[in-house]
Amino acid sequence: MLRLSLPHIDEAAIAAVADVLRSGQLVQGAQVAAFESELQRWLGVRHAVLTSSGTAALHLALLALDIGPGDAVLVPDFTFPATGNVVKLVGATPVLVDVEPGSYCVTEAGLQAAIAAWRGPQRLRAVMPVHEFGRTVPMESVGRLAARHGLAIVEDAACAIGARFADGRLAGTRGDIGCFSLHPRKTLTTGEGGVLVTASDALAARLRRLRNHGMERTEAGMVFHEAGYNLRLTDLQAALGRAQLPSLAAWIDARRALASQYLQTLEPLAARGLLTLPTLDPGHSWQTFMVVLADGIDRAALVRRLSAAGIEANLGAQCLSALPAFADVAQASPVARRLHAQGLALPFCEQYGRPEVARVAAALAEALA
Ligand SMILES: Cc1ncc(COP(=O)(O)O)c(C=O)c1O
Repeated sequence: MLRLSLPHIDEAAIAAVADVLRSGQLVQGAQVAAFESELQRWLGVRHAVLTSSGTAALHLALLALDIGPGDAVLVPDFTFPATGNVVKLVGATPVLVDVEPGSYCVTEAGLQAAIAAWRGPQRLRAVMPVHEFGRTVPMESVGRLAARHGLAIVEDAACAIGARFADGRLAGTRGDIGCFSLHPRKTLTTGEGGVLVTASDALAARLRRLRNHGMERTEAGMVFHEAGYNLRLTDLQAALGRAQLPSLAAWIDARRALASQYLQTLEPLAARGLLTLPTLDPGHSWQTFMVVLADGIDRAALVRRLSAAGIEANLGAQCLSALPAFADVAQASPVARRLHAQGLALPFCEQYGRPEVARVAAALAEALA
């Protein structure tokens, strides 16, 4: 089976994890500290704080910004449910915003319309732009809007490590807090894992406390400042991430080349109106390659046919307003609904090349004929 994606774990990474297992220091040790420093350098940020998942990172970001009951947060309607779930979990109200058909991301106009239409009673406190599948949301416009309306920015860069904005800066580094996921479907993986980044010393200190029982180590010993969580990454996972980080830039380059090959090879199917392709952006980090099938094409039947041909394919992301957990949030998002219904994620990772693209394209053409 040609899998949707494969984690990229070589023998050196396995040996690094084995070394940690033999060391006797399994959590919050030298590996976590070193991985945080290396991520700070790689991302060009003041603070990187490792967490047990991308969801944990998003959750802690909202807690550290004191967002809770009585607050509202702008969230794209097309995303993984975690983006909206964390807003609900802190007791705030998600305000869902439809996305653009070609980038699958929110736009300035969409955010502006949602802000103008918001009647409360909850107070708009933050915006969570999602750099969907590694495609960046232009942050100058989000920054302008946020400044005008007094909103904090939490970038959901779960899928977007290494993605670049038009000015060359990295996704996740422009908001008050940026959040990344290290889940196995992501380009850099620790099995489960997440990263928070921020330029603020005060936010970083709060995030570190909240992930670790509200605790801070001082010269006088452990001080428990507030009720906190245990959302830490282990040293085993940090060692796995450290072994991959030096290859990450090359892997993202390979993904950009693979996306170009897909776009070229699938163009004839797009020209026949059978599917639409994602729009190109040079800074895209291509965590997922999702096409959108024409209306009337039965995606479930197509996924079955591809599976019979040895190719794994799946939907891309969810439409939050269509999920039971968000039934209380009134929102009509025609684009998000369509992307959720007709989006098709294809096998995609840096280990694949022209042969895999040719195989997927041939199977798709045959199944759609
Ligand atoms: C946009 C987005 N946000 C958040 C998450 C949650 O990350 P994790 O699975 O590491 O908890 C994901 C995971 O797929 C995601 O795609």
